[in-house]
Parts: sequence; C-alpha cells; structure tokens
Amino acid sequence: MECLKNRYERSSNLLWIAIIAIVFGSRIAVAADNSPSPMPKAGVPWSAKMQGLYKTLAELLTDVSSDRRFNDPANKKRIEREAGQLASLSHDLNKKDMVSLDADPTVPMVAGLLARETKRAVIELKRDNRAYARSIIRSVPGYCITCHTRNSSGPQFSELPFEPTTQALSPVERGEFFAASRQFDRAQQEFLKVIQDPKAAASYNFDWERAIHQSLAIAVRVKQDPQQAKEIVQAVLSMKNAPVSVKEDAKAWKTSIQEWLDEPGHQALTEEGLHAEALRLMARARETQKYPVDRTADILYLRASAITHDLLQKAPNGRYASDALLLAGIAYEVLSPLRTEDLHDLYYEACVRKSPHTPIADACYRRYEQSTIFNYTGSSGTDVPQDVQEKLMELKELAMPQVQINHGIQ
Ligand code: HEC
Repeated sequence: MECLKNRYERSSNLLWIAIIAIVFGSRIAVAADNSPSPMPKAGVPWSAKMQGLYKTLAELLTDVSSDRRFNDPANKKRIEREAGQLASLSHDLNKKDMVSLDADPTVPMVAGLLARETKRAVIELKRDNRAYARSIIRSVPGYCITCHTRNSSGPQFSELPFEPTTQALSPVERGEFFAASRQFDRAQQEFLKVIQDPKAAASYNFDWERAIHQSLAIAVRVKQDPQQAKEIVQAVLSMKNAPVSVKEDAKAWKTSIQEWLDEPGHQALTEEGLHAEALRLMARARETQKYPVDRTADILYLRASAITHDLLQKAPNGRYASDALLLAGIAYEVLSPLRTEDLHDLYYEACVRKSPHTPIADACYRRYEQSTIFNYTGSSGTDVPQDVQEKLMELKELAMPQVQINHGIQ
C-alpha cells in the first residue's frame, strides 16, 4: 500500500505541473463557447421537490436511526414506502423539464448520484439486505449537503418545522440533517458540540473528523466567514486528546485562514477574475500539501471549489468552464465529500466531453485515468472491468488531439 501511494504521489506531482502549464499556457487552444445558456423556467417545481425531499428525509431518518424502530416488523412497510418516495423524488430531479435555477453542472451530477443511491436502497430493502439499505439511507444527507454547501448561493433557513423525532440520531447526524435542509446555523451548533466533546475527540472515531469537515465547509463556502472558520479551527486545536494528525492539519488551516483575513477585501466577480482567483488558490493549496490527498490545504480547496462553482453558475458554457471542471475535480479528489462516490471523476469526464481534443481535455483525461486505475488496484494488482476499460478508451479518444486520431496514433 505504501509503495502504491508513493507511485501515485510521484506521478501526480508531474501531472500537477502539466496541468498548471496547460491551464495557464494554452487558453487559445481551448474551445471557447460563449453562447448564453438558455433561460431556465421558473424554479418552482424544483423547490417543491426539495420540500418533499426534506419532509421525507425527516421521516425516514427517524426510522433508520434507531435500531428498535428500524427492526420493528410493524415499521417495515412504512420504511419501504418512505424510501420509495425518496427515490422517486430524487429520480424526478433528473427529469428534463425539472430545471433548477442553478446552471452549475454539479447539480445534475449529484442529482444523478442521489437517484442511483436511493434506488439502490429501495432494491436492497426489497431483497431484505436491510443493514446495507440502512447504511445507504444514512448516507443520503451527504448528497443534499454536497449540493447545498457548494458556495453561498440558495436560501438559508434559521428553523424549519420538520425534524427527525428520535434521540437515536447522533449529534453529527443531527448536524447533517440541519445542513441537508439548509438550516446552517443550527448545523454549526451541533457540529461544534461534537468538535468540543472530549470523548469524541479522543475516540479516533470518524464522527469527530466528519463534524470538522462539515462545519468548515459551511463556514468557508456557505458563510464565507474566515472568523467563523478560525473559531472552528481554534476549537480543534484546543482539544487535548485529539489525534495528532488532525491537529497538525489544523495548524495549516489556521495559517490559511490568517492569509485569508489578511487579504485585501476585494471579491472577484467577472469570469476572468473568478478564474484567476481559483487558479491562485489551487496553486497555493498545492504548495501547502505534502502529498496529494493530505488534508492540510482544506481551507484553500474549500475556497477554490466555491469559486469554481461561482464560475460554473455564472458561465456554464463560458471559456473557463472546462478549467473550472478540472479544478473542481482536483479539489474534490482531496475533499471527498461523499463516502461512497468518486465525484471528482464526474468532473474530469464532464471536462473531457466539454472540450474534446484540447489540451485541457487531455489533462482531465489523465486525472480520470489515474484515479480509475487507482480505484481498481488492490493487493493482487490492477483489474479494470471490461465496461470501465471501454469507457476509458472512449474518453481517451475524445481527449486526444484530432490529428493523432486521423493518423491512427493511439
Ligand atoms: C442536486 C443538487 C441538490 C440535491 C442533491 C439536493 N438539493 Fe436541495 N436544493 C438544491 C438547490 C440548487 C436549491 C436552491 C434553489 C434556489 O436557489 O432556490 C435547493 C433548495 C432546497 C430547499 C429549499 C426549498 C425552498 O423552499 O426554496 C430545501 C428544503 C432542500 N433543498 C432540501 C433538500 C434535501 C433534504 C435534500 C436531500 C434529501 C436535497 N435538498 C438535495 C439542490 C439540491
């Protein structure tokens, strides 16, 4: 494993240099599509689906959080019905006429993942793989949060009426429910309670780190509030028995936040300005990290990814859209907000398809290929399934310069 990681690191460093060179150096080669995106219809149906998801999630979490309620035969039918409802609402988000007011291609990506996962939960419940179904359902708030905490866009609620009525919900799960339903201040209160809980900090339990990651995402991207981020990091640093590795990361976060506080208070608004700012933060993140997936540069990746979302919302077909997809992919490879999915691969793929036969597509394909091969590499070697190999071939061809294809060079 160690050896594998080293190999991944080395090639990743070279790749990084190539990417920076491409993104900075070859603007002209990137297909510029400045056509305005079509005006979406009003977002009312979207809001209605969201309200439905929120209500269903509150009910379903009540049933899946407690062992007693989940395993009680009297609740079996209701749980199946609620899961079915969640799957059906998620499926609806992907319908053609369902336009959110949000042009960021992340929205259909995450909506697709949520639809797939909730459908799987329904199937597993039917097959009586109930423990597996339950674990999928418990991961649902992560998908809501991934969409809702991209940046500061969208509504925020101080308090909504429905919530899971169970004491069995852990404090992190309560925080995640609030974040999933855009009650961010309530979510922050819950996460901070977990971060400051000496038992949670000392337990090497993943919940403690989860609370930190979620609350930083809210402070940095939704609230865009360096002071709030600083308070969270301060809380992490003050926990006596917390894992040393996380506290080491927190020291680096503190430095990034101080740099943020010291920056002149201008905000990039134009496409050019947002692109330049995202590149600057990504380069700074890369300087900060010691190896590709360490978490020392989280604050910088959170800031950079928020800006790539600003850019993608503003100009989803603009001249920097493919760069933004690549940068988002790189940031999410580190931040990995979903426990079961490789969101970053979806960005790389979207980037290749958006700007075929350009240097940026080539950079995106390389990241895609590397991450795919890495996913299928285990102790007994690499074994990439046939359908995945075919997809790699397809994207490789799309990424390649047109001339090479014409000359049959593979
Ligand atoms: C694919 C991305 C995405 C996913 C997944 C998602 N949402 Fe949303 N949600 C949005 C967007 C975008 C908005 C804001 C639209 C706007 O700007 O008004 C929103 C708005 C909302 C709102 C406010 C609706 C209103 O009345 O204005 C609620 C509540 C909500 N979401 C709950 C949820 C819950 C609960 C989940 C998970 C089960 C979820 N959402 C999953 C993208 C998503």
